[in-house]
Amino acid sequence: MGKVIAVAQQKGGSGKTMLAAQLAVALADGARVAVLDIDPQGSLTIWGKLRANSPKAAQALTLATISGWRLANEVEKLKASHDFVLIDTPPVIDSDARRAIRGADLVLIPLNPAPPDLWAAEGTLKLAAQEKRKVALIFNRAPAASRLRKRLEAEIAARGLFLLDSALANRAGYANAFADGLGVTETGPTTQAAEEIRAAVIALKAALT
Ligand SMILES: Nc1ncnc2c1ncn2[C@@H]1O[C@H](COP(=O)(O)OP(=O)(O)O)[C@@H](O)[C@H]1O
Ligand SMILES: [Mg+2]
Repeated sequence: MGKVIAVAQQKGGSGKTMLAAQLAVALADGARVAVLDIDPQGSLTIWGKLRANSPKAAQALTLATISGWRLANEVEKLKASHDFVLIDTPPVIDSDARRAIRGADLVLIPLNPAPPDLWAAEGTLKLAAQEKRKVALIFNRAPAASRLRKRLEAEIAARGLFLLDSALANRAGYANAFADGLGVTETGPTTQAAEEIRAAVIALKAALT
């Protein structure tokens, strides 16, 4: 059975879809990966369509789009035939978000290293706690070192929350690769962005064990 990672955070624009796509491509190097888009905005689905037509898409991925009562079944089905299933969720706390979190081995919450992003994650954290799911936070668009980042790290630790020790910086490479249906490990395997994503994959795999 594969591991299911639900990328969730009530705040829009925190990088859920971008992160799901980047992690999926990097994880697919040596594993069977499915991505499940349950956001009605369908950005990950569009990314997948671009990907299907790109000769630069080096890694094979399964892409699925679903919502509603069939979601749990779809997750089970994908789990049976893949090593990792990444679910990209909408920026709301609704029944689909609950279904995705319920079916997840890990709830991955991207956030800018600033207090309002942690405040915005409260609904997702509460839902994960209700469903007794493991949670990992990951900093996105993070400056290497800032007072605010340090302050937030302290706040996260004080609350007993788990923060992945690999953060993603703000890099045009992420958005550029996404716009072409690709991952940074495909568009620029030697770039800092690709390094960050590979490090995030290692941290993520460790968090799943
Ligand atoms: N680390 C990053 N560096 C540069 N651009 C980013 C980064 N993370 C996200 N973005 C861009 O920010 C926008 C919002 O990200 P997205 O993944 O769509 O957020 P969400 O799915 O949480 O609403 C997208 O255009 C995305 O490409
Ligand atoms: Mg999104």
